[in-house]
Parts: sequence; C-alpha cells; structure tokens
Amino acid sequence: MSKTYNAKAYSVASATSPFTSSTIARREPTEHDVQIEILFCGICHSDLHQARNEWKEVMPTVYPCVPGHEIVGRVTKIGAHVTKFKVGDLAAVGCLVDSDGTCPECQAGLEQFCPNPTLTYNFPDKHTGQVTYGGYSDSIVVTERFVLRVPENLDLAGTAPLLCAGITTWSPLRHWGVTKGKKVGIVGLGGLGHMAVKFAHALGAHTVVFTTSENKREDALRLGADEVVLSKNADEMAKHAGSFDFILDAVSADHDINAYIQLLRRDGNLTLVGAPEKPLAVAAFGLLFGRKSLSGSPIGGIPETQEMLDFCGQHNITSDVEVIPIQKVNDAYERLLKSDVKYRFSIDMASLKAE
Ligand SMILES: NC(=O)c1ccc[n+]([C@@H]2O[C@H](COP(=O)([O-])OP(=O)(O)OC[C@H]3O[C@@H](n4cnc5c(N)ncnc54)[C@H](OP(=O)(O)O)[C@@H]3O)[C@@H](O)[C@H]2O)c1
Ligand SMILES: [Zn+2]
Ligand SMILES: [Zn+2]
Repeated sequence: MSKTYNAKAYSVASATSPFTSSTIARREPTEHDVQIEILFCGICHSDLHQARNEWKEVMPTVYPCVPGHEIVGRVTKIGAHVTKFKVGDLAAVGCLVDSDGTCPECQAGLEQFCPNPTLTYNFPDKHTGQVTYGGYSDSIVVTERFVLRVPENLDLAGTAPLLCAGITTWSPLRHWGVTKGKKVGIVGLGGLGHMAVKFAHALGAHTVVFTTSENKREDALRLGADEVVLSKNADEMAKHAGSFDFILDAVSADHDINAYIQLLRRDGNLTLVGAPEKPLAVAAFGLLFGRKSLSGSPIGGIPETQEMLDFCGQHNITSDVEVIPIQKVNDAYERLLKSDVKYRFSIDMASLKAE
C-alpha cells in the first residue's frame, strides 16, 4: 500500500446524512502520478444519485462517500516519470482515474468501456485499499494518463463541468454524427442538457430543446437552441412527430421516453445519458415502426475528453455556472432536485480552507 497524506474533503456518512467537513487519506504521488490542488469541482446529478445510494442495484455506495468528478486545478507535485505536466500547470480530471491500459477498449482510447476501470469516487482504490474519493476536496492524486490539459483561455469555474457534463454529451453527439443539416433534440435543460445544446449548436445542427420548465425557454434560445418545446404541451410535441435524426435524453428522473421515440424519423436514434433510479418503460411498436433505435452512452474516453476540451478552447465554450462555497453543498443538492440551477453548480474549493 502507498504512503498517504491527509486531505480536506466534504463527505456523507450515509444515504440520508448531510455533507460535513472531514479528512481523507490520499496517496503520496508515485512515479507516474500528478498531484493537483483542486480549484473548482462541479456538482453532477450523479453525485447526488451516488451520495444517496440511488444506484444501489448497480453501484452501491460505500460510506463515507466523497463525490465529485468535474475537477479543475493546478499541479502541485509530479512523480519522477511524469512528462506531460509540470508544477504550476492547469490540469483537469473527470470520471475516470485509471483503467487496465491493456484491453482492446483501452488500446482504442475508449477507457470508459474498459472492464477494469477505476472511477473517480466510490470505486476500489488499488493504492490505498479504500475506495476512491472524488473532487469535493482540496487535492487529488491521479496517474498522468488520466489527467487532462486545460486550454488557458477558459474560465476555470465553467471549465470544471466539462469533465463530466461536457464529455458525456459530446461523445454521443459525435458518435451519432451530429452535424449541419441534422435535426437534433435535447431533452432536459440541466447540467448535461445545457452543454449538449451548446455543442449541438456549435456543430451546426438544427437544435430543439425539450424542457418541463417554462422559465428556461429564453435561456434555451440564448444557449443556442433554434426551437424550444414545452414537453408537457401535447400540441407543441405533435408538431415535431417523425422529424428528428437524433435525440439526446439527459433527464435525471422517471419520464415517458415513448413520447420522444415518436418524434424520431425513420432510422432515427434516441440515446439516453440520463440515469434515473428506476427502469424506463419502452413501447415496442414505437421502435418497430420506423426501425428506430434506443441507445445509452457513458461518459467518454481520455482522447475524446481532450478533443472536447480543445474544441471548447477554440470555440470559447464553458458551462454556465453558479459558483458556490463548499458550505452550500447541501442546499445545492436540494435545488438540483427541483431543477433549480442555471445550469451547473461549481464549487469554489478555496472555501474549503476555512474548515
Ligand atoms: N451517461 C453518463 O455517463 C452520465 C454522466 C453524467 C450524468 N448522468 C446522469 O444524467 C442525468 C442528468 O444529470 P445532470 O447533472 O444534467 O442533472 P440536472 O442538472 O439535475 O438536470 C436534469 C434535468 O432533467 C429534467 N428533469 C428533472 N426531473 C424531471 C422529471 N421528473 N421529468 C422530466 N424532466 C425532468 C430537468 O430539465 P428541465 O427543467 O429542462 O425539464 C433537469 O434540469 C442524471 O441522471 C445523471 O446521473 C449520466
Ligand atoms: Zn457526472
Ligand atoms: Zn482496459
């Protein structure tokens, strides 16, 4: 087991506990490691699902749990064999901190599909024997292969969410060939959804936002949507029947996906990135007529994450964030549940120094 040091963090002790200040053990950087002082960490809805053990069937939570996988900071120490980073560089870490590096998926740069990954939090940590702890902390130590370069021109608070909300929407948009001339729907204008709108617009697609929140209509247009549909309004929905090449569903809770499958054209695809607690019902006939397909997509690999960050640097794209101190994290979770955030909370980790 590696030598460790104490880092400050915010953790939950059970599915129903609030976050409190705590101390965790991080490994001292080994030869290939980069130690990063965390400056900002985004709050993903997955953090909430995990902290509250809502994914117990698939990924039960080990407590205490320190979430956070939208991490941006500065390099404070490097191991002897690190070549890509030096002390003082900006650096970022997303949802993965390691993988076997040898399987066909890793060889293809698709580490998100590796059968032996290490997720950034709540995953067995082979260095410490505990579980991994995420970015609600003052520092993190990650093997160089999983550390991303950050374009210097981007606002850092708004860059943090790119590491999950950004790559999770970028990857399926690219995979399904979203480009000029395609009609693309984005369902749910939250952290993921608003990044998807920015990307679909930047890629040149005709972009339609589906929202349950009337008060997000103006924002959707400002973020790059060509049209906005209030999904509770059946007439507004019916106007788009059979017209979409691709729909990305980024909803965090139970909802009717059949209503969106009906909006796809022949051979159209609906991809789920949202991961609600309970299974979603699918009407077979909705897929049969029109040979439509339903898919899912998890985060993204390291090369594609770097590609996305570089694209954001070139197009000056960041997340729209509400910057909060770590002490407000419990309030932030309650607001996230009410779809009341525009459009991502980004924790200013300097606030942790006060603990
Ligand atoms: N696939 C992956 O790798 C991956 C990665 C990250 C996150 N996720 C998952 O993706 C989902 C979204 O994450 P997020 O961080 O973007 O969450 P978020 O910021 O809370 O956004 C979710 C949005 O879904 C809509 N929504 C919420 N409740 C709804 C309901 N009952 N019916 C219909 N729409 C509803 C709301 O949009 P409107 O107000 O516009 O209706 C809300 O803003 C979560 O389940 C998360 O765990 C998956
Ligand atoms: Zn996430
Ligand atoms: Zn692998």
